[in-house]
Amino acid sequence: MCGIAGYVGPRNAVEVVYDQLKRLEYRGYDSAGIAFPKGDEIVVTKRAGKLSELAQALSDKWPEAPLAIAHSRWATHGAPTDVNAHPHFDQTEHVAIIHNGIIENYLDLRQELISRGHKFHSQTDTEVAAHVIGEEYEKGGPLEEAVRRAIARLRGAYALVVVSHLENDKIVCARNSSPLVLGLGKGENMLASDIPALLPYTREVIVMDDDTLAVLTTEGIRLMDANGRDLPVEPMHVDWDVAAAERGGYEHFMLKEIHEQPQVIRQVLAGRVDEKFKVRLEGIFGEHVWTEIDRVNIIACGTAYHAGLMGKHLFETLLRLPTDVYYSSEFRYGDPVLSPRSLAIFVSQSGETADTLAALKLCKQRRIRTLGIVNVIGSSIARECDRTIFTQAGPEISVASTKAYTAQVMVFALLALYIAQVQEMPGVRVGEWVEELMRMDSLAEDALKLEPEIIRMAEDMKNMPLCFFLGRGADAYVAVEAALKLKEVAYIPTQESPAGEMKHGPLALVQPGVAAMFGATDPHTRDKVVSNMKEVQARGGTVVAITTDDDTIMDQAADQVVRIPRAKFEFLSALLSIIPLQLFSYHVARLNGCEIDQPRNLAKSVTVE
Ligand code: AGP
Repeated sequence: MCGIAGYVGPRNAVEVVYDQLKRLEYRGYDSAGIAFPKGDEIVVTKRAGKLSELAQALSDKWPEAPLAIAHSRWATHGAPTDVNAHPHFDQTEHVAIIHNGIIENYLDLRQELISRGHKFHSQTDTEVAAHVIGEEYEKGGPLEEAVRRAIARLRGAYALVVVSHLENDKIVCARNSSPLVLGLGKGENMLASDIPALLPYTREVIVMDDDTLAVLTTEGIRLMDANGRDLPVEPMHVDWDVAAAERGGYEHFMLKEIHEQPQVIRQVLAGRVDEKFKVRLEGIFGEHVWTEIDRVNIIACGTAYHAGLMGKHLFETLLRLPTDVYYSSEFRYGDPVLSPRSLAIFVSQSGETADTLAALKLCKQRRIRTLGIVNVIGSSIARECDRTIFTQAGPEISVASTKAYTAQVMVFALLALYIAQVQEMPGVRVGEWVEELMRMDSLAEDALKLEPEIIRMAEDMKNMPLCFFLGRGADAYVAVEAALKLKEVAYIPTQESPAGEMKHGPLALVQPGVAAMFGATDPHTRDKVVSNMKEVQARGGTVVAITTDDDTIMDQAADQVVRIPRAKFEFLSALLSIIPLQLFSYHVARLNGCEIDQPRNLAKSVTVE
C-alpha cells in the first residue's frame, strides 16, 4: 500500500518521481523519500509527513538527475519518522532501496547480520533487506545479480527497487506479491506501484509477475526470472486517459467517482449483454461447471465484502443457490468447511488485499474452483484466480470505495443471470432482468440528481454524534456499506444492523440528536420498517427514509424522505439507494472539513495482513 516510483531518462528524474508519488498519494502517506546517484554517492532525502514535507526538504532549487527512485510510506514496521522513511541504505551506502510489502524473516536476518557487524538505524524490515542486498553486492555484481541472490534469502511479500552509484545508469527491481508495474518509453523507462503514475509518460505498461526481476536503463527494460533467465518484454497498451486518474474538475476523487457510477455501470455491461437481452460472460468456466456447483463462498474485505453480501442475497433469492460470505481475514484462519463442488469468489477492487490473496491461496491448496471479481488488471488476485471477471470501473483513487462497490454488485447481478441462463432456470426472467440492468445507468443518473437535497440534509445533520443505518433484506446489506462510508470519510460513529434487530439492543443508543438512515426501498417490508422508524422517533431520534419514488407512506413516518427512482426489481432499487447514501457521507465529511480522499489511518489497498 505504499507508493513506489522510479525513472531513468532525459527528463529531470527527481521531478518525474515526485510527480509520480503525487499521483500515488492515496496508496500510502505517512512519510516519503527520494534517492538518486550523484558522483560517488547516493543522495537520499526523506521526511515523515505528507509529500509537501519532502518537497520542502528538497528546497526550492530542485536537484537534477537522470535517474531517481522515490517512495511514499504507510507504516507497517516502525513509526512514521524520518529515520524509518524510505529509501534505506545498505551498510556500505553503495546501495539504496525502497520497498513495499513485508519481509517476514527480517528479524532472523537482522540478528544474523548484526552478528556479522552490521548496524541498523531504523526499525524497518526494509533496511534489513537493504543490508542483505548490500552484503550480496559486496560479494560481486552486477547489481541485478546481487539483488537476485539477495531475494533468495528473503521470505514474504515485496516490491523492491534498488539503485547504486557504482552502476548509476540502471534501476533494478524485484517483485513478489506486492504490485509493481513498468512503463516502457522511448529513451526513458520507469516503474511505479500503480498504473496512473505512468500514464502521463507512457501507455506501454508491463505488470511484473511474482518472482521476477527487471533492469531499467535508458536503452530498455530487461526482465528475468528468479534464476536469471531472460523473459519476454511484452507491454500492454493502457488506454485510460490521464484525466481518468485525475480529479476531472471535482473537489475530491470520491465525489468524482460517485458521479462516475452511471458510466461505470455502462462499462461493467459493455460486451456482456446483447440485443436479445442475453448475458455473455466470456472466459469464465464452461457451462457444465455451473450445473455442478452446489455452494458459493464469497470472500472479501471491507466494501468488497459488502458487495459480496449483495451477491449472496441475489444468489439465494434468485437462484436458490446456498451462499456464504466471509471476511478474508477470518476465512484464512478459520479452517472453513469447503464442499469440493463449491465455488469460491474473491472480490477485490485493488486485487492486492493481502488477506484476500491469502484466502485465495488457501482455496487453491484445497483445489476449490476460484473466481475473481477484480478491478485492477494484472493484480495478484486476478492472476491467482482460475478465472476473473474484471469490473472495468477504471482507476478508483479515493480510499473510500464507491464506484467499485456498484461495479462489483452489477457483476454479481450479471453472474447470477448468466447462471440462470445457462441452467435455463424457469423462474428467472433473465431477459427482463438484463433489460433492467441496461436501464441502471439512467436510473443512477436520476439518483445523482438528489445531490442538492442531500447537501441540505448533510448541513442539518453534520454534527450528529451517532448515525444508525438500518434496513431489511437487500436494504440491510446496503446499510452496512453506507455506514462504512460515513465512518471512513466523516469519522462519525455508526450503528448498522437489520432494522428488526433494533429492539434486541441497539435501540438503547437512541437519544435526541442521534440520526437513523432507513433503507426502505422494498414495498414488501416497508410497513415493518415504518414501525422501526417509530421506535427511533419515540426516543427523540431523527429518522431519514430512503425510499422509491412511488412510495406514499413515508411522509407520515419519517422526518426526512429521500426518493430514489424505483427499478423493476427490488434488488436493483436497493443498489441505487447507495448513491444518495454515498453523497450523504461525502457532504457531511466535506462540510466538517475532513480529508476525504486520504482518511486518517487508512490506505487504499491493504497489502499487509
Ligand atoms: C472501502 O471504502 C475501504 N477502502 C476498504 O474497506 C476496502 O474496501 C477493503 O480494504 C478491500 O479492498 P479491495 O477491494 O481492494 O480488496
